[in-house]
Amino acid sequence: MTITNGTSSQFSPYPIRSAKGYHTFLPEQLQPIGSLLSAEKFPQNAEPPKLFEPLTIRGVTFHNRAWVAPMCVYSSDNGHATDFHLVHLGSMALRGWGSIMVEATAVVAEGRISPSDSGIWQDSQIAPLKTIVDFVHANKGIIGIQLAHSGRKGSTMPGGTLRIMRDDGWKGGEVAPEQTGGWPSEVVAPSAISFNPGKYPDPVEASVEYLTNLKEAYVKAAERCKIIGFDFIEIHGAHGYFLHEFCSPGSNRRTDQYGGSFENRIRFPLEVAQTLRAVWDKPLFYRVSASDWLEDAEGPEKAYPGETEEYKWWGLDQTTLFTQKLADAGVDLIDVSSGGNDLRGKIAVGPSYQLPFAEHIKKNVKNILVGAVGIITEPEQAEEILENNQADVVLFARQVLRDIDFPLKAAQELGAAISPALQFERGWSHMVVKRDHRKAPAHHSGISTVEGEESIYKRKNGGPAVYSAIPS
Ligand SMILES: Cc1cc2nc3c(=O)[nH]c(=O)nc-3n(C[C@H](O)[C@H](O)[C@H](O)COP(=O)(O)O)c2cc1C
Repeated sequence: MTITNGTSSQFSPYPIRSAKGYHTFLPEQLQPIGSLLSAEKFPQNAEPPKLFEPLTIRGVTFHNRAWVAPMCVYSSDNGHATDFHLVHLGSMALRGWGSIMVEATAVVAEGRISPSDSGIWQDSQIAPLKTIVDFVHANKGIIGIQLAHSGRKGSTMPGGTLRIMRDDGWKGGEVAPEQTGGWPSEVVAPSAISFNPGKYPDPVEASVEYLTNLKEAYVKAAERCKIIGFDFIEIHGAHGYFLHEFCSPGSNRRTDQYGGSFENRIRFPLEVAQTLRAVWDKPLFYRVSASDWLEDAEGPEKAYPGETEEYKWWGLDQTTLFTQKLADAGVDLIDVSSGGNDLRGKIAVGPSYQLPFAEHIKKNVKNILVGAVGIITEPEQAEEILENNQADVVLFARQVLRDIDFPLKAAQELGAAISPALQFERGWSHMVVKRDHRKAPAHHSGISTVEGEESIYKRKNGGPAVYSAIPS
């Protein structure tokens, strides 16, 4: 057989071909990194773990259910993605995650959280994001973006910066002043109520005209997402930012059609979802804060349970009703987070602490997929969530920062064989071993056995973990 470069052969991947359409030579992955290897060759994959079952939404196939949650990295240049994002997100694409998501990305400049946050409010922001998406796609990965508006939590200092400043004696609040690129006098929210008076900006109330323009900004952002080639959009409706602020009675004191009753408070977030659904035909997700955790401060979510009484604070009951409306509007997946909008909230933080919310929504809302997030760090933990049908996908945030190879390690631990990046195969030959059964011990062969490698599962019983809820 004559083998010429660029021609497929029985012995593919030789010669190594370049990914189609990529601007430089880039070795083509034979199948998505992190997807199951064929059960014919790897019998242990005949009944794979749920974590590695693919999921197709509106024609987009996510090759497993271990997804990267959105994470701000405070590395943008006036809202433009930088080489940091390319390396950061690009390396996730090489490590087997079923989905990658660009951090909260502001649809208007004042909708950034910090001055170093990502933006998609102008055309010049298209090219650097496209570089990232092209790289991920050239490696057969899936990548989406979280569209955001920070509301009353805009113009604040980026995460790590504040700790360092405080260590150095900074006594100020979280506000990013003008001289650091902030816009404290232009912070806009549903109502003119500060998140933390004196420490956070004092927002001005959004006019109806502002809201109309903002919906148009979401549409323009979606048009840019099409040019860039994103596989999905997630609407950031959580963590005390603009859309969540509409939902919570404590941050929404409006007297117009966007405030007051439950129907009025969810009106604008729902309009944003409907508006985006009308122009975006790929998967559309919505991240919600399922609770402001105010049981201790306020008592039950509904003051006087009954048909007509109003809710006192934003909780699971309203989130469930709201999610059904999002599902009816064509939102494909609800990403269930919590908190971030009320400092009085008492969050019971611990492993899978937000899972009961996801599970409740999964049981009670029709026609929507559910994502679970929040201190999910172990393969068995994630697998159980899916096996118990508590959620359809699992999102990981801090675990990605600590252990970027988690999907490959999880496959190994759960007994499945998934595709490592072609270039990294030699590091994973202990996972790519043919076995009769999923749980049967691998018959290690060749040079690849890694001795003394600590199982991540063991950490469950290891030293004390320091947990904190970090909604952003
Ligand atoms: C550095 C960092 C940045 C974050 N940025 C975002 C963000 O842009 N959008 C968002 O919805 N959540 C953000 N979050 C919250 C995470 O997506 C996730 O919901 C939270 O960290 C809980 O998951 P974990 O326990 O797996 O970390 C951020 C979290 C971290 C640690």
